[in-house]
Amino acid sequence: MKKLIKNGIIVTAADTYTGDMLIESGVIAQIGLQIDAQDAEVIDASGCYVFPGGIDPHTHLDMPFGGTVTADDFESGTIAAAYGGTTTVIDFCLTTKGQPLQQAVDTWHAKSQDKAVIDYSFHLMVSELSDRVLGELPQIIEDEGITSLKVFMAYKNTFQADDGTLYKTLQTAKQEGALVMVHAENGDVIEYLVEQALAAGNTDPIYHALTRPPELEGEATGRAAYLTELTDSQLYVVHVTCAEAAWKIAEARKKGLRVYGETCPQYLVLDVEALAKPDFEGAKYVWSPPLREQWNQDVLWDALWNGSLQTIGSDQCSFDFKGQKELGRGDFSKIPNGGPTIEDRFSILYSEGVQKGRISLNKFVDIISTSSAKLFGLFPQKGTLAVGSDADIVIFDPAVTRTLSAATHHMKVDYNAFEGMEITGEPVSVLSRGEFVIRDRAFVGSAGAGQYLHRKRFAAEASPLPARKEISGGVS
Ligand code: URP
Ligand code: ZN
Ligand code: ZN
Ligand code: ZN
Repeated sequence: MKKLIKNGIIVTAADTYTGDMLIESGVIAQIGLQIDAQDAEVIDASGCYVFPGGIDPHTHLDMPFGGTVTADDFESGTIAAAYGGTTTVIDFCLTTKGQPLQQAVDTWHAKSQDKAVIDYSFHLMVSELSDRVLGELPQIIEDEGITSLKVFMAYKNTFQADDGTLYKTLQTAKQEGALVMVHAENGDVIEYLVEQALAAGNTDPIYHALTRPPELEGEATGRAAYLTELTDSQLYVVHVTCAEAAWKIAEARKKGLRVYGETCPQYLVLDVEALAKPDFEGAKYVWSPPLREQWNQDVLWDALWNGSLQTIGSDQCSFDFKGQKELGRGDFSKIPNGGPTIEDRFSILYSEGVQKGRISLNKFVDIISTSSAKLFGLFPQKGTLAVGSDADIVIFDPAVTRTLSAATHHMKVDYNAFEGMEITGEPVSVLSRGEFVIRDRAFVGSAGAGQYLHRKRFAAEASPLPARKEISGGVS
């Protein structure tokens, strides 16, 4: 049945205006003033924003890590995402050395296809670039529509690839029209610092942060940017946490390089002090790269506002405190890295960003949805509200105030990293391709309704660098 969203304040990355929106066959059929459709179900959105559904470009659902598996899988994770206003996730398909790429991708299809309640796609991790992998990659990019390749510069002895592999991946991405994503930390030096800390008897969670200093994130970010320059390729730096890395990205963009960056809600609102909480509670806040000194938050907000960072990913990677984070009691290096963030990403950016005057409403939409759609080959099917686009829509009440808590969240994990945080605004109803997934704050979707998205190849013209004068200030 057709649906007609009436009297909402429609917001895209470019415009804000009051109007009606007609949805037919899963797509936006018409946008205008006073649309009259007799045969449509009317949804009153008075007083609410109508946003394009959030796109989360960075999730780890049902992912093995450090001898355990994330608490949220594609079902609980995408339900929580939908409650939070996200209608598309792009998850990282892991590979192991020697494994055929198609086998790795099939494993991720098996994890997701009967479970996801919203649309989803995959990035592909590159752990080695042997002749075999080089031979397989073009086919995977073409057949699966996986047009982004992830290289870990950290996690020595598990996920880390060497610089030669990163270089070859950038070269291949240039040829094939893919975007290379990096986890930018110097894994070799970190391994040494971790060994030294443990040998000195420093085993508490805070040493996770102290052994991964911001200089090692800045160094790896700069190194990846130089290799991008050398290969004339394109690079997306995931989970940027600190000034050292944000400045490297700004510098690269100033040179005209196709270098893009993402930060995450946790780095915008939490800081390193959390890791020092007593009774091992600091383990709840163990991410890699780690939370930083608080002043970095201003640098990250500035970088989002001035465009040197373009997106916000949740880096959803949830582990229960009991039984999972606890694996690292007595040895911080055994704490599974990551946290539950998929549900609150959208509202934290709205509340802390728009509500507190750090970013505009249109910039919010750009960061939460549009930029990711453009960078990852989904625009304009996703990432905007336009005739012909998928009807992935969030009806958002900006007046509600609420408190984030594990007692009320929908992630399948026993704590909330933002416990007790007061925020303003809430997704009331969420539609995926025209069907309600969340209706009046209740889940009405179904497992398996989410569709796998084959993505287009990277197109620099979709995410142009700003004119020189706009970026001359860099980040402050
Ligand atoms: O701590 C984190 N970020 N865990 C997830 C894996 C990764 O590095 O993205
Ligand atoms: Zn497939
Ligand atoms: Zn990472
Ligand atoms: Zn991640």
